[in-house]
Amino acid sequence: MSPAGPQKRILLVIGGGIAAYKALELIRRLRERDIFVRVVMTGAAERFITKLSAESLAGSAVYSDLFALTNDQTMGHIELSRDADLIVAAPATADLLAKMAHGLAGDLASTLLLATDKKILLAPAMNVRMWLHPSTQRNVSLLQEDGVLFVGPEEGEMACGEYGPGRMSEPAAIITAIEQALEGETRIALPQGPRSPPARLLASRRVIVTSGPTHEPIDPVRFIANRSSGRQGHAIAAAAAAAGAEVVLISGPVALADPDGVTAIHVETARDMLKEVEAALPADIFIGVAAVADWRVAEPASVKLKRAPGQNLSLTLVQNPDILACVGKRGRGRPALVAGFAAESARLIENAEEKLAQKGCDVIVANDIAGGVFGATSNQAVILTKEGKEFLPRMSKQDLAKRLIALLAAMLAGKEQ
Ligand code: C5P
Repeated sequence: MSPAGPQKRILLVIGGGIAAYKALELIRRLRERDIFVRVVMTGAAERFITKLSAESLAGSAVYSDLFALTNDQTMGHIELSRDADLIVAAPATADLLAKMAHGLAGDLASTLLLATDKKILLAPAMNVRMWLHPSTQRNVSLLQEDGVLFVGPEEGEMACGEYGPGRMSEPAAIITAIEQALEGETRIALPQGPRSPPARLLASRRVIVTSGPTHEPIDPVRFIANRSSGRQGHAIAAAAAAAGAEVVLISGPVALADPDGVTAIHVETARDMLKEVEAALPADIFIGVAAVADWRVAEPASVKLKRAPGQNLSLTLVQNPDILACVGKRGRGRPALVAGFAAESARLIENAEEKLAQKGCDVIVANDIAGGVFGATSNQAVILTKEGKEFLPRMSKQDLAKRLIALLAAMLAGKEQ
């Protein structure tokens, strides 16, 4: 969101849940980005946070009473959303989802959500059983069919002491989703599948993972490399093995130990990596995580290059094979699912969507490398499939690995139904 251009306006509906306190942080962050925030609170939300805190942070009046509004000619419930670029409900409770899905309009929040044609983004938050209940899942599907966008919920420890999906996404992840929605994103988020792979979910499946950088020789002692540590690829191989898969990990040079329970094959160059991937096929799932060098030196010297005073060295680079595309575009013998990564420094979603199509992938995990991904222990990603995308908060590479494996296992099971 650039500070240039007309100021963006968000209508924020705060539902009644323990996560309402995070909505205050969300208001603060939106204001920092010079976004105008108009706040509506449900009656239940007022039991968790005060109107005064929301009002002070937003710097504008907070609305909550449907009838006070209709008496007040200056701002009826229809007008509330009229100048909004986006309506966000955070936390979106099970009650709010149900009302929206069925067109109920008994209070100000549900009335304005019904009386608008503006784009709506929901950040659900509720107890894990409420989230997983068939009624809520049915309501989520109905809302997704209506084009409503979702961010989260996340899996984790809940305020009620239980564990599972239902926690509201962190404000940073909601902000990312808001930015995408404001940029014109119209596709709906991924339906919420299982978040961590139950053990044995991939039993009797074969999974090939590439990881780490490649080294492309210049001469016998020098090479071209990149900053990939292999942490994400190795974490994915470990998560697939923990889910019961037979895993072949084909890794470029890294300083990491081979994960337990995987067959590790060590390579140096992109061409060797491709050779080993082809030898390891067939497989049910291929996950290309390696930061494969795009170019190699056309003719590496067979002896160490010597420096002569004042003499420059020019190297001719030729393109390496694209391993992911080779696997994704295979005719016979293509794995049922092919997943890749897209580390981008600009146009994250557009580039990732292009890769999804161009490389014949089912899933692309996109990271903004400006966020410090290479070599780091955590990652912030967007997972794209042909069906939609999910904006994830920053999490450890292990947690991202589990999420990806859970998604792939669910997709594989879905394909075979
Ligand atoms: O095109 P880009 O390098 O950004 O694509 C990244 C994805 O493609 C990663 O999944 C990476 O493993 C894979 N890739 C590959 N072979 C290449 C280049 C990238 O498999 N030569």
